[in-house]
Amino acid sequence: MHVAHLSLADFRSYARAEVPLDPGVTAFVGPNGQGKTNLVEAIGYLAALASHRVASDAPLVRVGADRAVVRAQVVQGDRQQLVELEINPGRANRARINRSSQVRPRDVLGIVRSVLFAPEDLALVKGDPGERRRFLDELITARTPRLAGVRSDYERVLKQRNTLLKTAAMARRHGGKGADLSTLDVWDQHLARVGAELLAQRLDLVAALQPLTDKAYEQLAPGGGPVGLEYRGSIGDERGERDGFPAGGTVGGPGGTAGTAGATAREDLFGRLMQALADSRRQEIERGVTLVGPHRDDLVLKLGPMPAKGYASHGESWSYALALRLASYELLRADGGEPVLVLDDVFAELDERRRVRLAELVAPGEQVLVTAAVDDDVPGVLVGTRFSVENGTVERL
Ligand SMILES: Nc1ncnc2c1ncn2[C@@H]1O[C@H](COP(=O)(O)OP(=O)(O)OP(=O)(O)O)[C@@H](O)[C@H]1O
Ligand SMILES: [Mg+2]
Repeated sequence: MHVAHLSLADFRSYARAEVPLDPGVTAFVGPNGQGKTNLVEAIGYLAALASHRVASDAPLVRVGADRAVVRAQVVQGDRQQLVELEINPGRANRARINRSSQVRPRDVLGIVRSVLFAPEDLALVKGDPGERRRFLDELITARTPRLAGVRSDYERVLKQRNTLLKTAAMARRHGGKGADLSTLDVWDQHLARVGAELLAQRLDLVAALQPLTDKAYEQLAPGGGPVGLEYRGSIGDERGERDGFPAGGTVGGPGGTAGTAGATAREDLFGRLMQALADSRRQEIERGVTLVGPHRDDLVLKLGPMPAKGYASHGESWSYALALRLASYELLRADGGEPVLVLDDVFAELDERRRVRLAELVAPGEQVLVTAAVDDDVPGVLVGTRFSVENGTVERL
């Protein structure tokens, strides 16, 4: 697929922008702070309903305005769709498809598909487990939009369970006769049920990503690997140790079609989560927070025998992050429908060899959007349309 036209209203620094786009490579070039990333961030937002730069929506709305609108004309084969998102910080966002009446924002997932490479990706390797969980969960939703519901269900159940635990913890501290914990059993069931589903999806994804990430790393940095992805769950085994799940311990088909094997694996994960919740209940009531479940897990990224975090060099970490994105691209592509590739400021960070390799790998993409501060940062193989971005104007060169 590709985006044929992007319109922005009060998004970031743009009061208005109308940008006609072609398939193939397009480079946005201009000095720092002129709005290049803002443009591609808008496309990323349509694809993930989240920005790669900020966790909340408020910074996405132009200062002084109260909402932003991002609209894209999307071409998939001979089909055209117009998707529109209105971003309302602090209130529900609104969405429309083909100018018809409103749909849930979640319903636009899957229309714009994109893989975004950005300097922020370094946090995938060097940052907290939350960065890696988000990476997995966003990719799950990008591949199978209906699973956005699993993630939001889990967050809702977790929040409610935490509220209950917090109340119990407060009651205990104040010497009360203890909160009513009978409802906690019900919430344990909910948490373990949705948690097992989320966990199963993540394990499947990790198994699918493993060989692709290894291959991509080898292409970017020959001889530098191998890389290994290890999902580290918070479910303890019978000895109470933290458990690593074997990569390839697949629990369902791609996108999580719960086949018989998948269902058995989910039952197993459900049982283990229930057990872990029972084991930690005392501690949870003391601390007033849920201590086990997919929200506590991590994806350990290994380079050779060592974890990349804490051991890998800057260049290695950066190549690792790029390899994860390239692997995501391969997966989305294999699912059907080429995603838009966005490379925000990535070439400046790479040495000449890696720059050329990355450029060669992405160049055949149906649509590749590149941002760079200077023309020289865009590798020669990425010839295509150029736009200058300066002072809030986006002009085709
Ligand atoms: N909500 C907002 N309202 C108004 N201006 C904003 C908003 N958010 C960001 N900006 C402005 O947008 C500019 C940053 O744009 P952007 O990140 O796209 O720059 P860039 O061209 O990618 O620069 P660089 O080359 O440094 O990456 C900044 O000047 C910033 O002040
Ligand atoms: Mg930028």
